[in-house]
Amino acid sequence: MDPNRDSDDILRAKRSHDHSYMFDVAFSQRATQRDVYQRTSQGLVSKVIRGYNATVFAYGPTGAGKTYTMLGKTGEPGIMALTLSDLFAKMEQNQATSRYRVTMAYLEIYNEMVRNLLGPSVGILDLREDAHGATVVSGLTEVEVHDSDEVMDLLTRGNLRRTCEPTAVNKTSSRSHAVLKVTVEQQSRVLNMCQKIRTGVLFMIDLAGSERAANTRNRGLRMKEGAHINRSLLALANCINTLSSGGQYVNYRDSKLTRLLKDALSGNSFTVMIAHISPASSCYEESKNTLKYADRVKHLKTKVSSNVVEVDQHVSEYQACMESMRTRILELEGHAGVAGGRGRQSVY
Ligand SMILES: Nc1ncnc2c1ncn2[C@@H]1O[C@H](COP(=O)(O)OP(=O)(O)OP(=O)(O)O)[C@@H](O)[C@H]1O
Ligand SMILES: [Mg+2]
Repeated sequence: MDPNRDSDDILRAKRSHDHSYMFDVAFSQRATQRDVYQRTSQGLVSKVIRGYNATVFAYGPTGAGKTYTMLGKTGEPGIMALTLSDLFAKMEQNQATSRYRVTMAYLEIYNEMVRNLLGPSVGILDLREDAHGATVVSGLTEVEVHDSDEVMDLLTRGNLRRTCEPTAVNKTSSRSHAVLKVTVEQQSRVLNMCQKIRTGVLFMIDLAGSERAANTRNRGLRMKEGAHINRSLLALANCINTLSSGGQYVNYRDSKLTRLLKDALSGNSFTVMIAHISPASSCYEESKNTLKYADRVKHLKTKVSSNVVEVDQHVSEYQACMESMRTRILELEGHAGVAGGRGRQSVY
């Protein structure tokens, strides 16, 4: 209900204020963290393991529950923790046939500066583009991880460094966008002449919330942060507008956030957007805008393909491969001989 709507205004009373949107799923306030996880990012786990890129991002006004959804709180882990524990469980199941290497990086974009949340010191990092046009963060600390406990430990440490301050709207307001990057490299354990390495990258992003200075009553540094947050979210909204209207020139370079999200919005990525809205009429404008952008994002198309590189083997590995094949052939011949009731001899 629009709180500013005047029911006595005869001219406007008949105008329809209803809007319908079509989303993949909508959650009520009774939804648990696991309900949200299962219907949003659970499906991405097996894709990342198979070498596809995926992105999950939480969007919405300040105080609407983005950090709660992505990070959660003690006893109620959010999407980041639930996804990673599923990821490790799936890799464990495939241990016999595949070898994995998992690395993670955690960064925040604070006042248009990219900061390392896992490095020895919170340095400011640069964004640049690689030969394929993908955005890379130079100097970002990538830590190899072996189980979900290790990941949780790193996440907790990273979160302590993240910029979070109380405002009039949210006691624990995120003043930065936090980006968790998990890279999974998968290689078959079966020896082959040409080994394939699949690399899937999963981004999980807790955006800072859009805010109106009047609501947050922010002054000084909080106000400056708010301006940066709004500017990068506006850049994101502009990219979404251009992409959804079929525009050719998308201005990703307007902010660090959009440069990082470029692939998630139009490139090689399976992308899930979780829009957060408040049912309070005091949040009418914010909820309306959030729904509008979520609806536009729903129409965006990405082009996904698995990231596979073939690695030529070293001569010694060819020899090992031939050796393993020869043993296998002899074994099979032995079985065939026993089954057929006659002996055979082969020379290799
Ligand atoms: N579904 C929920 N169940 C229980 N508590 C919740 C839920 N959603 C949000 N909260 C609580 O509401 C408060 C505000 O939520 P949160 O910090 O996640 O908002 P936010 O969208 O991240 O805001 P900001 O943009 O300012 O960072 C927090 O104390 C959080 O724990
Ligand atoms: Mg937050």
